[in-house]
Amino acid sequence: MWTGKKLTESYLEFFKKKGHAIIPSASLIPEHDPTVLFTTAGMHPLVPFLIGQPHPEGKRLVNVQKCIRTNDIEEVGDASHLTFFFMLGNWSLGDYFKKEAIEWSYEFLTKVIGLDKNRLSVTCFEGDKDAPKDEESAKIWESQGIPVERIYFNPKEDNWWGPAGKTGPCGPDTEIFFDMGKEKCGPKCVPGCGCGKYFEIWNDVFMQYNKTDAGKFEPLAQQNVDTGMGVERTVAMLNGKATVYDTHLFKPIMDKIQGLSKNDLLKSKRIIADHIRSSCFVLSEGKGIVPSNVEQGYVVRRMIRRSIRHARLLGIEGRFCRKIAEVVVEIYGAEWPQLTRERELIFLELEREEDRFSKVLSNGLNRFGRILQAKKKISGEDAFLLYQSFGFPIEMTLELAEEKGIKIDKKIFEKEFEKHQDTSRKATAGRFKSGLQDQSETTVRMHTATHLLHAALRKVLGNHVQQKGSNITPERLRFDFSHPEKVTPEQRAEVEKIVNEAIEKAIPVKRKEMGLKEAKKAGALAFFDSKYAPEKVSVYSVEGFSKEVCAGPHVENTKDIGKFKIKKEESVAAGVRRIKAVIE
Ligand code: ALA
Repeated sequence: MWTGKKLTESYLEFFKKKGHAIIPSASLIPEHDPTVLFTTAGMHPLVPFLIGQPHPEGKRLVNVQKCIRTNDIEEVGDASHLTFFFMLGNWSLGDYFKKEAIEWSYEFLTKVIGLDKNRLSVTCFEGDKDAPKDEESAKIWESQGIPVERIYFNPKEDNWWGPAGKTGPCGPDTEIFFDMGKEKCGPKCVPGCGCGKYFEIWNDVFMQYNKTDAGKFEPLAQQNVDTGMGVERTVAMLNGKATVYDTHLFKPIMDKIQGLSKNDLLKSKRIIADHIRSSCFVLSEGKGIVPSNVEQGYVVRRMIRRSIRHARLLGIEGRFCRKIAEVVVEIYGAEWPQLTRERELIFLELEREEDRFSKVLSNGLNRFGRILQAKKKISGEDAFLLYQSFGFPIEMTLELAEEKGIKIDKKIFEKEFEKHQDTSRKATAGRFKSGLQDQSETTVRMHTATHLLHAALRKVLGNHVQQKGSNITPERLRFDFSHPEKVTPEQRAEVEKIVNEAIEKAIPVKRKEMGLKEAKKAGALAFFDSKYAPEKVSVYSVEGFSKEVCAGPHVENTKDIGKFKIKKEESVAAGVRRIKAVIE
C-alpha cells in the first residue's frame, strides 16, 4: 500500500539522490510575511531565495510542506478539496531548469511509483504577450516518450503559477495528468477537465519571472524550478481510492465521526474531518494562535464552528471535537511531533471553543428560525442582528440561507456592520490577549516603530517601497523592503527624522476593524493576495503618518516608542533592502 509516509520518503530520497538537500517544512504561519495568513505552497517560504538570496542549504532543495489554502473553503466536502494538505516539492534556485525538472518528474512517476507511461498526459503554457509558448517543455516531454497527441497547450489561467502574493516570482508551468481509465465525459474532455477522467498529479513551475506591482512580468535574475505534488490526493490515486477521505490518512477520522453520528451525511462528515484536522495542525504550531475574531485565529474559529454545526446535522450531541482530534494526533503524531507535544493545548482550545459556540449556536439558530417563520426571508439587517446580538457568524447565516434558497443582501449587512463599529470593537476588545502573551513591551514599541519606518520610507523613497519582511527581537527591529538601490545617507537621515517627528508629536495609535476592500479604499497599506486575503482586517493608523493593515499589537500613543535610530542599511536580495534599527 502507498501510505503518505512511503510516498513522502520515496520522494525525498529520490531527489536527495539527485543532489537536493532535504529541508524541513516551514511553519504554517508565515514567519516573515505578515501579508498572508498561512503558508499556501512549498515555494512560499522560499520566495527570498527564488529572487536571489543564497539559501544556506544550496541550490537544490526538496521537502514536504504543511499548507493551508482557505480560498476553497466553501468547496470542502466534495471529493478532493482540503483546507490543510501536505505538498511535496523540489526546487532549483537558479540551478537546473526545464530539462532536468521534467526528466526527473517523469522518472519518479514511471520508475519509482510505477505509473503506466501510456496513461500520462501533460499540459504546457500556450504563450501570450508576457511570455512565449513553452515549446521547450513540450519537446522535452516528447523526448521522454509522451506523444504529441497527449501534450496540450493552455493559456495563463491554466498553465501559469504564482506569484503566491500580489507580486513576486512566478512563471509558466507544465502539469502532469494520469488517465483514470474512465470514458471521456464529452468531446471537450481534456486534461484539466473536472469529470474525474484526468487526475492532476504534479505541477512543475518554471519561475523565471517576477510580477511587479504594476502587473508587469519581468525576467528574474535566476531561472528557478518550483514543483508541487499533493500527498493526500496522490495517495488516493495510487491506492485506487475515489477520494482522499477513503485513504488511511482520513478513514479512521471518518469512521470516528460516523461512530458518533446518528445519520449519514457524507458532506458533513468530510467537512468535520477536514476542518478539525486543519485546526489541530494550526493550534500545534506553537505560535500562540487560538480561536479568536482575527486573522489565523478567526479561520480556526470558523472551522471549528462550522464543524460543530455539521456535527449537529449529523445528530452528534455535546462535545465531540476532542474525540476527532485524538484520532488526528494518532494518525499524524509520529511524523509531526508537534501534534503530540501540543495535544493537551489542542484539546483544550477545541473544547473551549465548543463551549463558547454551543451557546451562540442555539440562540442564533433559534432566532434564525423565528425570523424566517415570521418574515419568510432574512434581510441584511437580520443577518447583522444575528451577528451582533448572538455572535452568529455571517458565513453561517449565509450558508443556512443558501440551504433554504434565500438570498441575503450582504452589502446591507456590511453597512450595518460599519455603523456599529464601536459596539463591535468593544465586544471584541482584548482579543489579542491570548495570542500575544509573549510580546514584550519593547517588541510592541518596535512594532509601531516599524509602521512609522515603512511610511517614512515611502515618503522619502517613493510609493514603490513595500514591506518584504519584518523581524523584531527585543534588541532591534529589522525591516526588509523593495527598493532598487542603496538608501543614501541623506535619505536615511530624512527617514529617521520623519519617524522621530511622529514620535515627538505624541499621536494616538488607532485600530479599526473593517473589510479588506474598505481598508484599501481608506488608503491603508495592505499587501494581500486577493485570493488568500482574510475577510476582516484590523487597520492601525497614526494620523498624518501611517495607515496599515496589521495584526498588532501596538502602543497606544507614538510617544511610548522612544527615540528611533537606524543602525544599518544593506542589500538582502535583488531589489530588496534591509534596515536595522533600535529604539532608545
Ligand atoms: N507552487 C506550485 C503549486 O502550488 C508548485 O502548484
